[in-house]
Amino acid sequence: MTASQKSLFRANRELIERLRPIPDDLLRFEQQWIDRAISESLTTQQPSSLSQLRSMLDALIEQEQAEEPPTARYVAQDMTLDEFKILVQEFALDGLTEAQVFYHLMPRLSLAAQMPMLRMMIDEFGSGNIQRAHTTLYKVLLKELGMPTDLESNIQANGEAGCSFPNMFCWLTMRADDPSYFAGVITYFETVVPFFFGCYTTLCERLGIKAHTYYSEHVHIDVFHALEGQRLLKAMDSDHKLDYTKAWQGICMGRLITNNAFDQAVYKAQANTVAGEVAHA
Ligand SMILES: [Fe+2]
Ligand SMILES: [Fe+2]
Repeated sequence: MTASQKSLFRANRELIERLRPIPDDLLRFEQQWIDRAISESLTTQQPSSLSQLRSMLDALIEQEQAEEPPTARYVAQDMTLDEFKILVQEFALDGLTEAQVFYHLMPRLSLAAQMPMLRMMIDEFGSGNIQRAHTTLYKVLLKELGMPTDLESNIQANGEAGCSFPNMFCWLTMRADDPSYFAGVITYFETVVPFFFGCYTTLCERLGIKAHTYYSEHVHIDVFHALEGQRLLKAMDSDHKLDYTKAWQGICMGRLITNNAFDQAVYKAQANTVAGEVAHA
């Protein structure tokens, strides 16, 4: 079997579900992919304190808020229902397993640092009400779109970029040598979602999608999760456990992988629909 993001995703499931170790070739593939993403997104400036890390993150967020990517604009304004189905499918591996891999990070954190993570996770799992768990909200969306809600069908349908996004969280929680990478990525991610997911809520309104709660809930709750991310950074720093450089490199790498996964999903949606139209003509 050739190493790919899809085979890595399957191997991650085998590890989580059956404690089967990840084969060495896939571990090498993963490390090379992560190393490449870190070096491709490396900035000349690196932080040497928490306050520097925070101001660099603030500047990055400000820049992202100012320039909406063309793919996000397309989703908001022009994406068709058939294209949206492919976009939803490409993020289904994450949606269907959302936040479960975070459990693996917990014992690696100090007790104080586990608290903000725990508060985030309580929301991810609907405060213990499965109807409100983010995975259930994603399943409701898949059902409305008439799409399969099981993991296997979605693994088969997913492209490489779609598999890379959940794989990144597996590396961050289970393989990265330092939780600082995860702390950076999660804080960045929870901070951008409230405005980035705006393209999804606009699309849902435009296309009359009833199961928009997955997106609207994130726009609302991730404002609070971003604050928890900041508390996580602070708690780690107070314990002298925060590596500022690794947190920052995590942010830059996470941003690259996430943006790439989103762009590729939009391109795939556009290409498949065009191919479909040609086939129908
Ligand atoms: Fe979530
Ligand atoms: Fe969140």
